[in-house]
Amino acid sequence: MEKILEVKDLHVTFRTYGGTVKAVRGVDFHLNKGETLAIVGESGCGKSVTSNAIMRLIPNPPGKISNGSIRFKEKEITRLSEKQMRSIRGVDISMIFQDPMTALNPTLTIGTQLVEGLQQHRKISPTEAKAKALDMLELVGIPNATERLKQYPHQFSGGMRQRIVIAMALICDPELLIADEPTTALDVTIQAQILELFERIQESTGVSIILITHDLGVVAKIADRVAVMYAGKIIEVGTKREIFYESQHPYTKGLLNSVPRLDLQGEKLTPIDGTPPDLFSPPEGCPFTARCPFAMEVCDNVYPVTTARSDSHKVDCWLQDERAKQLLATAEK
Ligand SMILES: Nc1ncnc2c1ncn2[C@@H]1O[C@H](COP(=O)(O)OP(=O)(O)O)[C@@H](O)[C@H]1O
Ligand SMILES: [Mg+2]
Repeated sequence: MEKILEVKDLHVTFRTYGGTVKAVRGVDFHLNKGETLAIVGESGCGKSVTSNAIMRLIPNPPGKISNGSIRFKEKEITRLSEKQMRSIRGVDISMIFQDPMTALNPTLTIGTQLVEGLQQHRKISPTEAKAKALDMLELVGIPNATERLKQYPHQFSGGMRQRIVIAMALICDPELLIADEPTTALDVTIQAQILELFERIQESTGVSIILITHDLGVVAKIADRVAVMYAGKIIEVGTKREIFYESQHPYTKGLLNSVPRLDLQGEKLTPIDGTPPDLFSPPEGCPFTARCPFAMEVCDNVYPVTTARSDSHKVDCWLQDERAKQLLATAEK
C-alpha cells in the first residue's frame, strides 16, 4: 500500500505565561492512499494541534513544531517555506473544520467563493471555473445547483453549509482531506448524511481522509483504521476491527464502554473516571496511570514500550509485557 502521509515523533509546544504546554508529545502514524484514518480521543488530547501541524497552521508564537517529521508524498512539510505551503494548502491538502461559518464569507455568494478558491490555484477560465463549481455542488448533493450558486451562506441550513464547505475543500482535487470534527455541530440525522457523503466522495475521487472526532459512533461508520490519542500521544492504533473488538489499552476500552449502544438499551454507560493530566508537566510514565484500574508501579515511572500485536495493531501499555501477563495470570488463580 502506498503511504501518502507519514508523521514521525511529532512534538508541538505552546509557550504561555503559565509555562510551556506540551500539546503533542511524540506522535507517530501514517495514512495509506485512499483510506480513512480516524483520530479519536477526549477534548484537549491534541487532535486539532496534530492536524493543524500537518497544515502548518500552528500559530508561531506561541506554538512551535519542536521536533519530528511530517512527510506528505515526497515533501517534508516541516521544512517547507510559507510560500511553498500556500501552494499545498487547499490544493494538495485541504481541511474542513467543525463550524462551517468560519470557512465561509457571509458577504459573498457561494458561487463566487467556490470559483475564487479554484482560480487562486488553477489557470482556468471563468466559464470552466463555474462549470466545476456546479459539478462540485452536485457531488456534495446540493439540488438546484445553478440557482444555489447565486445565494449567500445564510440562505443555507447548517447541514447544507457543511456540504458547501466540503465542496470548497474538494474543488482543487486534493489528495488528502483533513476533517476536524466535521459533524460535531450538526444534529444526528444530518451528521449521518454528511458521513455518507464522505464515503461517497472517497469512492468517486480516491481522496485519503484523516477524520478527527471524539465520537466513536462516527468512527464505527466510516473509518478504515483508528488512532486513539491521550494526553498528546497515540496510545493505540489499529484497524477498525482491532480497535472495536480487540482493543487492549484500558483507555480505549474505557472509551468504548462510554458509547451508547443500540443493542444494549437501558444498560448504564460507564464513563472513565478522572481527568487527563495537565500538559504543562505531563507525567514521565503512562499519562493514563492516574485513571487506570490496572495501573502498576512501572506505569507511573516509565512510558510503556510499544507492543505490535499485528502489522496494524500497536499499543503502548505495560499490560502487554510478558511479566505483567504472568503476574495477572497468577493473581487470577
Ligand atoms: N494556541 C494555544 N495556546 C496554548 N495552548 C494551546 C493552544 N492551542 C492548543 N493548546 C493546547 O493544546 C492541547 C491540545 O489541544 P487540541 O489539539 O485543540 O485538543 P483536541 O484534541 O480537543 O483537538 C490542549 O491542552 C490545548 O489547551
Ligand atoms: Mg479539536
